[in-house]
Amino acid sequence: MRRGSVVALLGLALIAGGVATAVAVVPTWLPVAASREASRIHFVIWFVVVICIVIFAIVAAVMAYAIMKFRVKEDDFEDGPPVHGHTGLEITWTVIPFVLVTAIAIVSAIVLSRNDAQAQDTLRINVQAQQFEFTFSYPDAKNVTSPVLMLPKDRSVELYMRSLDVIHSLFVPQFSQKEDIVPGLVTQLHITPTRLGTFPLECTELCGLGHSLMRSQAVVMEPAAFNAWLKTQEKNAAPPPPTTAPSSTGTTSTSTTPSSSAAGLSVFNANGCSSCHTLSAAGATGQVGPDLDKLVSYAQVAKQPLAAFIHQSIVDPNAYIQPGYQKNIMPGTFGQSLTKTQLDALVAFLVQSAQAKKG
Ligand code: CUA
Repeated sequence: MRRGSVVALLGLALIAGGVATAVAVVPTWLPVAASREASRIHFVIWFVVVICIVIFAIVAAVMAYAIMKFRVKEDDFEDGPPVHGHTGLEITWTVIPFVLVTAIAIVSAIVLSRNDAQAQDTLRINVQAQQFEFTFSYPDAKNVTSPVLMLPKDRSVELYMRSLDVIHSLFVPQFSQKEDIVPGLVTQLHITPTRLGTFPLECTELCGLGHSLMRSQAVVMEPAAFNAWLKTQEKNAAPPPPTTAPSSTGTTSTSTTPSSSAAGLSVFNANGCSSCHTLSAAGATGQVGPDLDKLVSYAQVAKQPLAAFIHQSIVDPNAYIQPGYQKNIMPGTFGQSLTKTQLDALVAFLVQSAQAKKG
């Protein structure tokens, strides 16, 4: 091979490799890695990308050189000389891909096994998915529940995920991992957050009408702040002290004081009602289920007293379906998961805001 050919090939390879490198590096393809697992996964991605760029540069250079150098003359219609077996070449193009694919497989296997390895003090969090919300609970802390995934930084966390209805999938782009949540199975996901902040958490399996609204957040906090949060939640989750002494004549629970309406609003927010319903008192604009600003007229159509109608619609959503909406979209489990105090507060809040909306 002449010296000039080698220089030309090298030059072409550098150009092709440079262009491919720019395409790989300049646009921000990957989100920031916010967990140890994400960093390892990103390493695998870059490992493969570098191999691809080198191969692309070689192939593109040889092809461009051949097109320029061995171009036929305009009036030449002859076939080129036939090429038969070349053992050296065949061994080369078999061995190189074999080595590369094996290297990728080994690196990936190491990353997978390291990513699944839990630490001694792994924090367990249970995830419940249902149309169309996630609920996270912390079994180490009296089953504190939260609609947002709160995580301590630099601690190994294992999610145990269950679905109440159809297949969902949990994905936080900055953690670079995605795991399906399948009815009848408990699927697991291991995360070690390394970066403080709030990251989007979304369902990535088409699971019904409200799929696009099935979104939450993952919040990574300093361990001390996380423990403080857990303590506060534990206190709040404790059953509230009885408000009326047994000796008192007792006040009716239907009165709507400002504090009960605040309690109702927090139940509304904590249960993700706003994902599906519109309610101006809560700033909610969901479109999946009936518009809760219109509850007064819905109750009239259903020919039921307002409070009883709302109570029934939460506890047994299929009992009455507002025309234009479908059965089995609202989970009946909401009513069961609420305490009586929470349910009463929610009903009172909805009655109050619906009447206020009416005028
Ligand atoms: Cu749940 Cu999509």
